Formats: sequence, C-alpha cells, structure tokens
Amino acid sequence: RLSGQDTPPPAGDLDALHRQAAVCRRCPLHRDATQVVMGEGPRDAPLMIVGEQPGDREDLAGRPFVGPAGQLFDRVAGEVGLDRDRAFVTNAVKHFKFQPRGKRRIHQRPDAGEVQACKWWLEAERQLVRPKLILAMGATAAESLTGSGKGILSRRGTVEAAEDGTPVLLTLHPSYLLRVPDAAAKEAAMRDFRADLSIAARMLA
Ligand code: URA
Repeated sequence: RLSGQDTPPPAGDLDALHRQAAVCRRCPLHRDATQVVMGEGPRDAPLMIVGEQPGDREDLAGRPFVGPAGQLFDRVAGEVGLDRDRAFVTNAVKHFKFQPRGKRRIHQRPDAGEVQACKWWLEAERQLVRPKLILAMGATAAESLTGSGKGILSRRGTVEAAEDGTPVLLTLHPSYLLRVPDAAAKEAAMRDFRADLSIAARMLA
C-alpha cells in the first residue's frame, strides 16, 4: 500500500518516531532493506543535514552516513570546522534501495513516489528538531525539501526555502564527489563542497 493515509500522526519524540518508522509500509522499499535508518543527533540541533538514502553500510549499521560517503563528509566537515555532533543527520528516504548483483548490493536511486512517500518521515523529523538551517546534499534531498531536484550543479551554494520557510542550503552529494572520474573536475567539485559546508559551519557559529 502506497498511500499511508492510515498511518497515525507522527510521534512526539524521536525514539517513538523511530519505532513507528520501523514498521512503515508507505512504499515497497522496506521489503528488501535490513532496517529503517532514521536521523540521529541532538533534538535541538540548529542544523539538519539531509542526504539521499542509507547505503549498504548504513543499512547494516542502522545509522546514517557511516560508509564511504559519510567518511568523506566527516573529513570535509572537519576541515571547515563543522561539528557533525551538533547537527541532526538524516536522509530523504529511510530505507536502502538496491539491486542484488552477486554478493553485492548496488545502490539504486529512489524514484519520485518513494521520495514523496518518505517525505512524511523527513517532515516529522523536521517538525521535532526545528532546525534553523537545513543542508540538502544532492538532488534527492533537494527534491524532497524544495520540490525540485533538477540542476543541482548550478543551484549548489545557494539558499532556498522549504515549504515551512526553513532555509535550505543546497550542495552536492558526497557520493557524487567519490564518483567524479576526471581529476580536475573532482578537485573543483570538492572545492565547491568544502565552500558549501563552510557556509553551513559559519551559519552555526
Ligand atoms: N548516502 C546517503 O545519502 N545517505 C547515507 O546515509 C549514506 C550514504
């Protein structure tokens, strides 16, 4: 069932929300994933960081951004003085979407229906945390938070607004940075990412 119209209103604290999400049936992604991966961080975090969806490592660990993309994020955040522990780190989609290939599980981008279905959980997290700023990493986060994931390369580094007016700073996704094949293009993308994270760090200072 896709509608989710029969789900109760979001729970009043993050642990209860997590328990609700653990039995989510709003889209089919729960079927193959190991577990739901909800956001983590302080309930009163001034900054919310939103990625796409848990990857292979996150799906197994039950925590966001602990795999290669998370390690790259942590490194750049450290370089610009952005304290991840002060942020609420989450994803637009809460279950890992993948295609099995031999022993490996290959990441698949969530479709618009899955992003829309899972927006309910992201909104519930946002209403509980009420961040002053949201850092949207990549097209899927941008799509969920601003209504469009298009043209992220030209929108990055700019601030847009979520539906409730919360400022959303757009940036690239760290997994994208890991995949840029050309060395010069990769260096340029890393520079942009670093600049965006340092804007977020300064807005928190
Ligand atoms: N990529 C994401 O978008 N989120 C994670 O949690 C891990 C990798």
